[in-house]
Amino acid sequence: MYSAADQKQLDLLSRNLLLAPDPSNPKDGLVMAHQLGDVIRFHEYRYYVLHDPVISDFEFDQLYKKLVALESAFPTCRLDDSPTSRVSSDLTDELPEVHHLTPMLSLDNSYNEEDLVDFDKQIRKLLVWDDEPIAYAVEPKYDGGTITLVYEDDRLVRAATRGDGVKGEEITANARTIRSIPLRAHFSALGIYRAELRGEAIIRKDAFARINARREEEDLPLFANPRNAATGGLRMKDPREAAERGLDVFVYQLGFAENEKGEDVLSQFATHQQSLDALAAMGFKVPDEERTVCPDIQGVVSFCTEWADRRDQYAYEIDGMVVKVNRRDLQERCGYTSHHPRWAIAFKFKARQATSRLIEVDYQVGKIGSITPVAKIEPVQLAGVTVSSISLHNEDFITSKDIRLGDIVLVERAGDVIPYIVKPLADLRDGSERPIRFPTHCPVCATPLLREPDEAAWRCVNAECEAQIKQRMIFHVSKDAMDIDGLGRSQVERFYDLGMVKHIADLYKLDFDRIATLDGFGQKSADNLKKAIEKAKANPIHRLLHSLSIHHLGKKHRGCSQEKSTTCLICKIG
Ligand code: IVH
Repeated sequence: MYSAADQKQLDLLSRNLLLAPDPSNPKDGLVMAHQLGDVIRFHEYRYYVLHDPVISDFEFDQLYKKLVALESAFPTCRLDDSPTSRVSSDLTDELPEVHHLTPMLSLDNSYNEEDLVDFDKQIRKLLVWDDEPIAYAVEPKYDGGTITLVYEDDRLVRAATRGDGVKGEEITANARTIRSIPLRAHFSALGIYRAELRGEAIIRKDAFARINARREEEDLPLFANPRNAATGGLRMKDPREAAERGLDVFVYQLGFAENEKGEDVLSQFATHQQSLDALAAMGFKVPDEERTVCPDIQGVVSFCTEWADRRDQYAYEIDGMVVKVNRRDLQERCGYTSHHPRWAIAFKFKARQATSRLIEVDYQVGKIGSITPVAKIEPVQLAGVTVSSISLHNEDFITSKDIRLGDIVLVERAGDVIPYIVKPLADLRDGSERPIRFPTHCPVCATPLLREPDEAAWRCVNAECEAQIKQRMIFHVSKDAMDIDGLGRSQVERFYDLGMVKHIADLYKLDFDRIATLDGFGQKSADNLKKAIEKAKANPIHRLLHSLSIHHLGKKHRGCSQEKSTTCLICKIG
């Protein structure tokens, strides 16, 4: 559908548009609306049809928002085929289509406290409401695949994907294999003959890890994340295969309920919370301790912030929280746009994935001479911090992922974990990318590099290499080794550059009178440093051995794939 050259161009255009200032007149606006339409359609195709996005969700949202803002500033820029005029689609022609009983809309997004406060203001304006605070139901935004379930006469009669919001793909046989979906539910007790429920099919993080481990053993391609495994699982041709994915379904909305006469009986639930409680009582899996009702928007902000911190400990992937006006009568008064309900908003957590260009690779020399390639990328925001360099670990990492200079790479930073490169986006290559040539000589002392047959790293074997000496001293004084207070990387480098230390032993012969005269020091800090060094001399022997950076000797290197585990040969400390 898109040639490689088209894809490259659309990607470049996306990046330029993300940075472009808002147009000041309708003429420039129209050009930009065309461009935004083109890139959004392309990214929707990559996401919904190929399930292989080349842009992060956050970047996509930014592009979409830009188009919405542009169309509202200059209505003449609203094109007939604008992506904002329809809900995006995941329809293919592989499964039969079914009509939803009510349209399935998307959610508008918010990213911070200010956005949430604005949302509350907007609701109050819509409702002409300025007395007491508005109560909101808040629950996780599950990061899986949307599913809708229709029950008639207490039986599950149909399940479907979201599709384009009006029609979805029929997946009833697969849904029947999902244990958290009751095949029968006692709707009739509530006078409900036909009901439509919305929920999210999702895989537990631990089950996902097991699925990928098994796929690795069977030499099958790995899933990038639980969402891909879940959305793929919903649409398997063979229900037995769907069953193997171990899907769960969280129901988050009762969208439609009528009695045998076809009358709407949804209004028996005064609040969203009550409708979820009723579904829970019937045996559905609904958000439980994960959901709450906040009496006002400040409560919503606290709950969302609390969950942003808890997200990594939670058993399922969530990418934000969903905030809904709790009272159903107020929801109806707020109404809907063609894209989303006005009474709900998603609070998106800080993006963990981003794409960026790999500009060059630096090579760092470690304390035992291991050479670590470090990718320099165009700076990107990841989970709230700017990232511009990322370890590429070793030569095998680069080769196995086929990472090339000039590539657009997908970068991820989950929780407190250090950022890493998930993969290069090979579809965006235009032929100008170059292979990464690992150096043959030490970038600091020019000694030829050596790689032992059973090791991943190339090493500079010159123990007198200036870079190694500095790194060994820095490690020696660190918390993990001799733990010398007041001595860190910057002090060691400074003393080295002033010629005051050449080797680790020199750290114990420092001239404290001279240190007292150095800028930023003084008598007091020189005295403190002296005391800290004296104290370190009393460290136990295993600390000293570990601090000397002797190859194959030291604390065990746990949970790290790049270096071999080493255990202290003498005291066996691991
Ligand atoms: S409410 C009319 N609640 O987020 C209400 N959606 O764009 C619209 N999602 O793919 C949705 N968790 O499947 C709602 N607790 C939750 C949700 C949730 C996940 C998904 C939904 C859809 C997207 C909304």
